[in-house]
Amino acid sequence: MSSNSQQSNSHGNCKGFASRLVHAGNQKDPLGSVVTPIYQCSTFAFECAQQGANRFAGTEEGYIYTRIANPTTRALEDCVANLEEGCCAVATSSGMGAVATVLLALLGKDQHIVCTGSVYGATFGLIHKHLSRFGVSADFVDTTDLPGMEAVMRPSTKVVYVETPSNPTMQITDIRAVADLAHRHGALLVVDSTFGSPYLQRPLTLGADVVLHSVTKSINGHADVVGGIAVARDLALGKQLTDSMRHLGCNMDPHQAFLVHRGLKTLALRMQRAQESALVIAQWLEARPEVAWVRYPGLPSHPQHELAKTQMSGFGAMLSFEMRGGLEAGRRLMDTVQLATLAVSLGGVETLIEHPASMTHAGIPADERQKSGITDGLVRYSVGIEDAQDLINDLAQAFTKLD
Ligand SMILES: Cc1ncc(COP(=O)(O)O)c(C=O)c1O
Repeated sequence: MSSNSQQSNSHGNCKGFASRLVHAGNQKDPLGSVVTPIYQCSTFAFECAQQGANRFAGTEEGYIYTRIANPTTRALEDCVANLEEGCCAVATSSGMGAVATVLLALLGKDQHIVCTGSVYGATFGLIHKHLSRFGVSADFVDTTDLPGMEAVMRPSTKVVYVETPSNPTMQITDIRAVADLAHRHGALLVVDSTFGSPYLQRPLTLGADVVLHSVTKSINGHADVVGGIAVARDLALGKQLTDSMRHLGCNMDPHQAFLVHRGLKTLALRMQRAQESALVIAQWLEARPEVAWVRYPGLPSHPQHELAKTQMSGFGAMLSFEMRGGLEAGRRLMDTVQLATLAVSLGGVETLIEHPASMTHAGIPADERQKSGITDGLVRYSVGIEDAQDLINDLAQAFTKLD
């Protein structure tokens, strides 16, 4: 487990977000390497038996075994904990590894979770298919409807799980209000902030207890690594998460951590560029007769536009829209774009387009999908860092091939 308070980084106190992106977490290297090297080893030698015993007992700092902790992974954990203004972080082999680590740490038999309805498909599957077998019950609700949420809270509710902005409906939940609600009922608030990234929002500063990410997305940003991370508000929660991850064995590999940390350094630059383009593309789409509606938090037509302005520092690079011609028109669009790539995942330097109902969210039963706004005609678009005009031209040429 990383801990902000234990950072030996000389730049640890840099104030600006972009400076912390570059410097936070970097350890001073004995040979002068400017970046944290890849410690590609499974285990660490002890100088003597007593040292090994001390490290296991926790009375002496130092590394033991890479599933437990590794210096390359630690550098990334320290950096993200710093960016999220949390206490400590645990990096995992995938975003779902982070979701599983957190939920297995915080939930037990006969306990209850309240979760965003339009949650990522595999998170729904983990809760609905797997945690249910161990006696965990769940309600999937609209987390923008506070009275509706209040109505499903029970004494056994231990976790409120919110994805904001949500994938793929772009719904925005009021983190501060939901944190208050969860705490009043004795539950913890976990926020999946993958769509926002620490650049756009910092849920722990708004009252959340744990924030997690699929770092596969904007944090890494280059579509070449799968990974996850969870950041805890305090040390006690951090210990619970670390313990869960170590026993599950879904640690992040050092090489993976090196790549993610390298990608993370340019998060601000990538996100600034991509979100500028996303706004222009969203406005362009909204004016097209072929498009029924566009969901982008930066548009005044977005139902939580005002909330987005106060909770987020920008509107991000993700948008979704519905073609007037429904599913068939959406399919045709995905088959005829040439610059955007037809692929799942998001948050990378390349623009991606996909169809949630038949791809990322196909595992959610059709009635649940409809209830949470994931219509069959909804298209998800992740804006990369290409020229905005080229992306618009690409969509425009695809629109001419709809019939
Ligand atoms: C919002 C969100 N959370 C979690 C995940 C799971 O992440 P991973 O694919 O890295 O396991 C995803 C993946 O798309 C996601 O979009």
